[in-house]
Amino acid sequence: MSAEQMKQTVARAAVKYVTDDSVIGVGTGSTANHFIDALAESQIPVRATVASSEATAEKLKAAGFLLEDLNSAGTLSLYIDGTDEVNEHLHLIKGGGGALTREKIVAAASTQFVCIADASKQVSTLGKFPLPVEVIPMARSYVAREIVKLGGDPELRDRFTTDNGNVILDIHNMEISDPVAMEQQINALAGVVCCGLFAARPADVMLLGQSDGSVITLGG
Ligand code: 5RP
Repeated sequence: MSAEQMKQTVARAAVKYVTDDSVIGVGTGSTANHFIDALAESQIPVRATVASSEATAEKLKAAGFLLEDLNSAGTLSLYIDGTDEVNEHLHLIKGGGGALTREKIVAAASTQFVCIADASKQVSTLGKFPLPVEVIPMARSYVAREIVKLGGDPELRDRFTTDNGNVILDIHNMEISDPVAMEQQINALAGVVCCGLFAARPADVMLLGQSDGSVITLGG
């Protein structure tokens, strides 16, 4: 089974977490897109959706879902999103698609975060995938210098602007042994909007699609 097929399988498995008449948060990326397709196919009557990016909002709208602003939606019962890496504690690295800040906000505002991914995303230590950090443009060089002091190797994401009008620094070669502490430390740098570590608020449930077509559930 290809990685794309595993993403599709796991996206279908996530649909069973959706209840009738709920307002749910929806993540960004190819796995989240498969989830939108699977949800549309399921015909579960969701009341509305809260999108974690402009791209997801477009896809949700095209699939016929009602969009709601997070400010009026209140606490969401469920957030479904993909990830770039996950460890055994369900700490994540996210933001490969650059939507990390809105993803983190929607995850924080949700009672249950169900993360969906193909098996290749499971790691023992986070950090092989370059850690994305959203930065206010004028702070780019300052934050990059501070990240070097933390032992990382920052690279400006080429020709990329986030939905919030900011830039992304991708941190290479950072072995993240304490994700909770590292998330706090990077988020505390002046000019950082948010880093792609989801450790203070990890996933609650992790669904991992396997190459034999099965789905492994962690947490929950
Ligand atoms: C976007 C993300 C995505 O969830 C992450 O990059 C995984 O993407 P994909 O499902 O395409 O593998 O964090 O900001």
